[in-house]
Amino acid sequence: MSDIILGIETSCDDTAVAFVDENGKVLSSMVSSQIKIHEEFGGIFPEHAARAHINTILPTITASLKKIDVMEHNIKAIGVTRGPGLIGSLLVGTNTAAALGMAWNKPVYGINHLRGHLRSADLDEQRVKYPATVLLVSGGHTFLAYMKNKSDIEILGTTRDDSVGETYDKVGRMLGLPYPGGPAVDKLAKNGKSTIDFPRPMLHEKLEFSFSGLKSAVARYMTTNTELDTYENIASSFVDAAMDVLMTKAKKALKQNRSKSFVIVGGVAASPQLREKALELSNKMQVELCLPPLKWATDNAAMIALATWDYIKLGIHKPAVPQLQLSIQDF
Ligand code: KG4
Ligand code: ZN
Repeated sequence: MSDIILGIETSCDDTAVAFVDENGKVLSSMVSSQIKIHEEFGGIFPEHAARAHINTILPTITASLKKIDVMEHNIKAIGVTRGPGLIGSLLVGTNTAAALGMAWNKPVYGINHLRGHLRSADLDEQRVKYPATVLLVSGGHTFLAYMKNKSDIEILGTTRDDSVGETYDKVGRMLGLPYPGGPAVDKLAKNGKSTIDFPRPMLHEKLEFSFSGLKSAVARYMTTNTELDTYENIASSFVDAAMDVLMTKAKKALKQNRSKSFVIVGGVAASPQLREKALELSNKMQVELCLPPLKWATDNAAMIALATWDYIKLGIHKPAVPQLQLSIQDF
């Protein structure tokens, strides 16, 4: 067996463990979801998230080790998410990684979660062709970036307030849907029609995003209208507005920057509506569309392990100490 890296991801509400080789081949990837725990609160309850990570992290690592029958000497290093994320959740991952590093005598690398997402499209096979325009749409972040290669990243525009994933989750809550709202809103929207003209915030301004106005517009519509349209139509109108904003900005970015591929990563990249619109746009712009398989769009530890290989090759060794705020420029 060639050298492999153990990746650990506990920044939010998924306990994830993976083993990945130098070429991005995923030997094992396990994700223990906490949806059942947070469902009753309609959002992530940070204290419960940390406690659940404590309970699941070691059993998940043990199960992963059994799955691939790895020899200790094949593990080159451990990569663990150091931020951005929830402090209690991050601490469970970083402390576990530190303890294993000490026990096995392996180096431990602290990894920026966002750099993991950016690399997720190359898991299992190399899909990204550089230079690439990348749209990152997760629960915590929304931005457009231009990547000349896998570590040269220029931010083109980011959100001034809410991320698109967060907006999906909040609209889902308004519509009485279970947490996380993203997949549920998409599903409901499929049965409706876009009948309400919700605002498209900052549509004609450069490459910055803003989603809080759209979220407020949905809330206002639902509280001030005496004759509400169906929930299916509200969902469909919201998704339409969100997609319009994302695709308009992506088109501008693709026009401005010569790109061989258009890459979309992060949890909202699992949206079928987004995937459809992205395909239309990439055909129009004659750029190759690069979407990671659904399992790599949402949080996982394989992307953290792949980013660890990058850090090793670049000679960057950040300690596994939690950092609540990290930008994409930070390693
Ligand atoms: O990347 P991710 O798993 O975690 C973060 O790093 O935040 O993204 C989670 C976000 C949530 O807001 C969730 O509602 C959204 O991704 N999401 C979706 C879909 N699946 C997950 N949003 C829209 N459509 C989906 N199918
Ligand atoms: Zn994420």
